[in-house]
Formats: sequence, structure tokens, C-alpha cells
Amino acid sequence: MEPSPPPAGDSFAAYRRRRLSLIERMSRGGGGIALIPTAPEQPRNRDTHFPYRADSYFQYLTGFTEPEAVLVLVAGRGDAAPQSILFCREKNLEREIWDGFRHGPDGARALFGFDAAHAIGELDAKLVELLADQPALWFSIGHDAGWDGRIAVALNKVRAESRSGKRAPAAIRDVRAELDAMRLVKDGAELAIMRRAAEISTGAHVRAMRFVRPGRFEYEVEAELLHEFRRRGCEYPAYTSIVAGGANACVLHYVGNDQVLKDGDLLLIDAGGELDGYASDITRCFPVNGRFSGPQTDVYDLVLDAQTAAIAAVRPGATFVDPHEAALKVLAQGMIDLKLLPGSLDAVIESESYKRFFMHRTSHWLGKDVHDAGEYKEGEHWAPLAPGMVLTIEPGCYIRPADDVPEAFWNIGVRIEDDAVVTASGCEIITAAAPKKIADIEALMRDARGTA
Ligand code: GLY
Ligand code: MN
Ligand code: MN
Repeated sequence: MEPSPPPAGDSFAAYRRRRLSLIERMSRGGGGIALIPTAPEQPRNRDTHFPYRADSYFQYLTGFTEPEAVLVLVAGRGDAAPQSILFCREKNLEREIWDGFRHGPDGARALFGFDAAHAIGELDAKLVELLADQPALWFSIGHDAGWDGRIAVALNKVRAESRSGKRAPAAIRDVRAELDAMRLVKDGAELAIMRRAAEISTGAHVRAMRFVRPGRFEYEVEAELLHEFRRRGCEYPAYTSIVAGGANACVLHYVGNDQVLKDGDLLLIDAGGELDGYASDITRCFPVNGRFSGPQTDVYDLVLDAQTAAIAAVRPGATFVDPHEAALKVLAQGMIDLKLLPGSLDAVIESESYKRFFMHRTSHWLGKDVHDAGEYKEGEHWAPLAPGMVLTIEPGCYIRPADDVPEAFWNIGVRIEDDAVVTASGCEIITAAAPKKIADIEALMRDARGTA
């Protein structure tokens, strides 16, 4: 059987560049050896597993998606060149008949461009040799107790050979600090995949808008989303799709998706596909019967105005918090105007009384993980935005019934979420193809129903 082709839209050169970039960062930090394992398979019941997904850091550096694999990077010293070594499962015809193709060390080395590759079963013994006399071990300390223990055993084996002159690394450094900084700014290969993930996911939202009718169930809509993701090549949904009709939209992480859609209610869908290990994250809200009511329009347009203000605040030189603050000002003023909250704009923001209706933040980094790697603050300062960073813009307003809240707004929950790539002059909204103006949504739904 032929090896599977490289992931669409990506190239092994990009992975080699990332490995060299990490090695450079390690060298600037004094050198040493890095160990980056992929994720374990997770049992679902007895002898079946959840669909396998490789660890994001490992995938970022290798493009290799088989389980039971470890990447070892050795920073160069003196005349010794840096090395990139893969440990992976051996070829095994019997297992390949049952479970599918394995590259094996030789195939993986040749195809993925590692300097060396070995069977995973050799890792513990080889690790003792590799760790000896290295100044530091770069590793995700505390991420996995099993790996922490395995590393401790390997380090103790090196220490046990001290009388023959071998030294264990004097420092253990958290490799995630370097990798998180790298992953925060996406390279061209990553952005190409993210644009495609966004394109597929906006298509899924349009499909859902066309499908929805009163009397259909939330899970039927979820099935439409999943069909579109998978039909167009996404491996999985990037997270469990939220398909929340009516009051369910006021439950931020609603994933039951088992209720009937009612005439007169809004439907909130927060769903995105994952393509070649990259997430899309989109929320749209629209009326089950195709027409926004007056109160629904009030809340929806408020959230859309807040989102527009937040998007305008995304540009290099601004910080991560600027879009949130822009959205917050619009939302807080709107909550006062709609008589959801008493007081002045300053008082509402100062007292945080808006949190009753807008209790999450406006953005998070997006990439391989839906809530992606990368720091949000540098010391006391919010992270500055720079070209290549990707963040969501997702203000919302969720109104639960209460005596002091106008009844017309009860159980309306709205969030509008797009994915923004920071560019040299502002941002590119890669999810703009999913309609969000009321007139555009209503026109699309009318068209799907064949009504005038
Ligand atoms: N879908 C998860 C989020 O919006 O953060
Ligand atoms: Mn999000
Ligand atoms: Mn979302």
C-alpha cells in the first residue's frame, strides 16, 4: 500500500522549518534536547477507542498523525549538527491488515524528512543515551503523569552512570513556552488550511440556515453540520457543536442538542469543522421560522453592532483586549437603552453589572486548538496583536427571565462569532461567507423555503 499523501494544503517543508525554528530557540536558551510525545489513544468502551487525534504540538512539528510516536530534537553543539529524530510504530503486516497502514521508522524518515527514525519500543533505552551530557531537557512537564514518570526513570538511569562520566541534564525547561510563542503567529501553510476550514464551516452554517423549520429537532440540524464538515474533508468537528433553540441559547456550553425547534424562537449554532488539525469556530443565530421578531431584532442588532466595533479594533499595534473593550462599550450602552440595566455607561462597566447578560470575553486565540496555544498577557500587559495571529470575535447577550427584565426579551440568547486573521493593516474575517445581517439571513431562509 502507498503511504498516505501529505495533508492537503500543507507541506513537509513547513514542518521542517518549524522544527529548525524550535531548535534555534532552544539554542538561544542554552541548547539541549526536546522530547515531544503525541497523544495517547483514548478508550471509549472495552476495546474500542475515540477517533484518534494526534497531540497539537507534535502535529505542528511533524505532520505525522499515527499514535504511539515521539519527536526528539537535539540542538547542535560545536561540530555536531542539530538532529530531528522520530520514534514510531514499526511496520506490522498483521496489525496493518486489521488497523491500516503504518509508515514504520524507515518510511517516516524518508517521507517526513527526519534525520533518523527508530521503533517506539527502543525509546526508553535510546533516551538514556540521548539525555546524557545534554545541558537541558525541554519537555511538557506536568502534562501527563505517565510521561513525567518515564522521564524521571530515564534521568535516574543517566545519573546512575555518573561514575562513567555521564551527566544528566541540569535543567528541565517547559518546551511549551517556546512552542506557544511559535504557534501564536501562524505561517502561510497554517493560514491556508485555516481559510479552507473556515470556508467549509461557513458552508455548514449556510446549510443549517437553509434546513431549519419549526418542528425539526436540534440534532437534525447538528447532523446537517456534521454532514457538511465531513463531506468536504474535515476530519472532525473542532468541538462539540452547540445547536441551541430558544432558551437553550442562554446555556453557554449547551450540547444536549435534543430539543424540538419552535416557531417564534431563535436558534443559536456554534459550530466549526477541524481540517488537517486546524479549527474553525463560528456562531450564527437566526429565527426558526425565518423572520426575526422585534425584540429579537433589538438584541441581535446590538450584538452585531458590538461585533462590528470589535472587528474594527483588530489591527497590529492594538492589544488582545482592545476588541473586547470595544464590544463591551457597545453592549453595555445597548443594555441600558433596552432597559435591561439601570445606570450610566461608566457605572455599568465599572460595576460589571453587564456580566449578568454578557459573562464571557470577546476573543480567544484560534489555531490547532479551538482555544489555541499562546499567552494572552506579557507580564502586566495584554499581548500586542501582530500579523498572522488568529483570534475569534464573539460578543453575545444572553437574557434569562427575571422580574426586573422586560418580558419581551426573556430567553433570547445571541452570540455572533467570526474568525479574524490579523493583517498588516487590520484584519481579514475568514468566516465572512456565513451571512449575519438580518436582511441577508432572512433572504437566504426565504429562498430555501421558496417563499416570497
Ligand atoms: N466554540 C467555543 C468557543 O466559542 O469558544
Ligand atoms: Mn470561540
Ligand atoms: Mn464558538
